Amino acid sequence: MYSGPIILIGFMGAGKTTIGQLLGQITGLPVIDTDITIVEQEKRTINTIFNQHGEEYFRNVESRVLRQVVNENAVITTGGGIVLRAENRQLLKETGSTFFLECEPNVVVERLAEDDTRPLLKNKSLAEITQMYHNRLPLYKECATCTIDTSTLTMEEVTELILKRMK
Ligand code: S3P
Repeated sequence: MYSGPIILIGFMGAGKTTIGQLLGQITGLPVIDTDITIVEQEKRTINTIFNQHGEEYFRNVESRVLRQVVNENAVITTGGGIVLRAENRQLLKETGSTFFLECEPNVVVERLAEDDTRPLLKNKSLAEITQMYHNRLPLYKECATCTIDTSTLTMEEVTELILKRMK
C-alpha cells in the first residue's frame, strides 16, 4: 500500500512522464502532471502560453498549480523548470518524497530530437542545453529527497528504485 505524494522532478526528457505513469499503474495512485493541469486550466498548449504571454506568466501559473496539487495523495510529475522558483523548491522539499531523475544532457537531446513541444529547447545547441542543465542541477539536488541517475537504467528499473525508497 503506497501513499502519495510521490513527486518527480528533473530536466526535460528525463522520463518523468513515462515513469510517473508506471508508478501510477503499480501503486494505484492517480497521476497528476503539472504541465497537463496548466494546459487544462489555461485551455492552451504550453507553446501557445509561452508565445502569447511569455515565460514569467507560465511560471506564475506553474507555481499556482504546484500549490494546488503538492499535497495530493498522488504521483505528481512536474515540468523541468519547476525548481527555478524558491517558493516551489520550498514546497518540494517539505513533502520529503521528491525524486530527482537525473539524466545526462546528451541523452536528453537525443530523446527530444524530434520533439517541438518544448519552447525552451527551440533552436538551442547541445552546448546551450548543457549549460541550462548545469545551471539547474543544484536546484534539483536542493529539493531532492533522493536522486536517481536514469541515463543507463530502463524506465522499469527507475520505477522499481523509487518504489523501494517509498516502502
Ligand atoms: C520546461 C519543461 C517542460 C514545460 C515547459 C518548460 C522547462 O516540461 O514545463 O516547456 O523549463 O524545463 P517537461 O520537463 O515535462 O518537458
